[in-house]
Amino acid sequence: MSTKAQKLKYIEDLVAKCHKCQLYKTATNPVPGQGNPEAKVVFIGEAPGYYEDQQGIPFVGNSGKLLDKLLVKINLSRQDIFIANILKHRPPQNRDPLPQEIRLCTTFLKAQLEIIQPKVIITLGRFAMNYFFPGEYISKVKGQVRKIKWNGLQLTIIPVYHPSAGLRNGAMLQALEQDFQKIGQFLDTL
Ligand code: URA
Repeated sequence: MSTKAQKLKYIEDLVAKCHKCQLYKTATNPVPGQGNPEAKVVFIGEAPGYYEDQQGIPFVGNSGKLLDKLLVKINLSRQDIFIANILKHRPPQNRDPLPQEIRLCTTFLKAQLEIIQPKVIITLGRFAMNYFFPGEYISKVKGQVRKIKWNGLQLTIIPVYHPSAGLRNGAMLQALEQDFQKIGQFLDTL
């Protein structure tokens, strides 16, 4: 029996070889995801940006620095959690993910979640939220604690704004900080 870490490495290798869409052609590195294979909490972002593409690691740019600050406030570190994205290769000029790219690429995310079997998922921004709640609006659902059955897993999903929104807009930063407090309170009940 292989361990969760070995199974995640297998997915990483598939991501590295993936040519299912065109994004690998313009990307520097794949960004499969990183963190604790035994994590109870998984964070899901949108897609790698410039620095993530350079380093092959999720959330290492400005959004990542804000994410790290928000994590510290609720006593979480990257060693405790797993972080992944909807797309594993950077879209050119950080354009929005296309529906077809999301459809093709989220087979990897689905496999990662089935391996990790987290209890809680924090979606960062609308693309990750819409993966679980298609057609819903981030401004409406952010900060809600939602329990769902998903691919045989009992999950609690807490959608929040993407950290990049918090970097652009003070009101959204405030909302993010409040929603992270909620996340912390919820995790304390587990
Ligand atoms: N934004 C994301 O959604 N993901 C990253 O990995 C970095 C920035």
